[in-house]
Amino acid sequence: MTTPMENKVALVTGGGSGLGRATSEAFAANGASVVVADIDADGGAETVASIESAGGSATFVDCDVTDEASVAAMVAACKDEYGGLDFAYNNAGTEGKQQLLGDMDPAEFRRVVELNLFGVFNCVQAELPAMLERGGGVIINTSSTAGLRGYPQLAPYTASKHAVAGLTKAVALEYAEQNIRVLSIHPSAIETPMVARAMEDNPDMAEALENDQPMGRIGQPSEIADVVVFLCSAGASFMTGSQIVVDGGLLSAG
Ligand SMILES: NC(=O)c1ccc[n+]([C@@H]2O[C@H](COP(=O)([O-])OP(=O)(O)OC[C@H]3O[C@@H](n4cnc5c(N)ncnc54)[C@H](O)[C@@H]3O)[C@@H](O)[C@H]2O)c1
Repeated sequence: MTTPMENKVALVTGGGSGLGRATSEAFAANGASVVVADIDADGGAETVASIESAGGSATFVDCDVTDEASVAAMVAACKDEYGGLDFAYNNAGTEGKQQLLGDMDPAEFRRVVELNLFGVFNCVQAELPAMLERGGGVIINTSSTAGLRGYPQLAPYTASKHAVAGLTKAVALEYAEQNIRVLSIHPSAIETPMVARAMEDNPDMAEALENDQPMGRIGQPSEIADVVVFLCSAGASFMTGSQIVVDGGLLSAG
């Protein structure tokens, strides 16, 4: 087995499910030690067990990314457990309730932005000093195709995912000379519990997701995980600030 990320430490938020679990597994398969962070301890434990049963190294940290102290403790755990932090996949997020903006309780709008945008802000701010201590690192923030186009009935999701792309660009410029690369990834529909929930809530969306895919299918979590691992690898050493679209051709279809 090749282990190009041996002696590297990867942190994944929302690592207890979906894209976070698949990416935690992919980092571990490439030899990295993985800190799996989530508010869902059972999901996190399942991810750790899956990595360990495949011979990898991982540890779970109970973390709410909307809470600054919790995020600080998560980054401290990377240092305590494995000696530092090299790669961070800031992935925890929520789709929010599907409804028209005019009908929306402002508290729901704030809740989604708090998690999807401020959650990423909290993580990036805590991760940067840890990466500077190592002489560099890579941060991948999870946006969405909703970070590049509008989706009706998903205004806070669309707004927060656009903001993640903007935050990523600005921070990438701030740290470009300090060997920290910062990128956003923009998946279309991928088969995870989040999409299963969204399809259940909205049959119209289910139909669109099933029928409007240029490739005739939605994506698999491993198809995002493999791209995240590549973006963290030496092969992507001249990439920073970009929006990496992984959508099976969806945005090209207009
Ligand atoms: N699945 C898709 O089609 C898709 C497409 C584009 C973007 N995304 C984005 O990818 C990310 C992951 O989505 P997923 O489909 O794997 O969802 P998911 O619901 O399967 O997993 C999300 C994970 O985040 C965790 N989480 C929620 N709130 C948290 C908090 N406050 N602190 C820490 N962890 C928290 C959950 O417990 C869960 O384990 C999200 O940011 C989502 O917006 C998903």
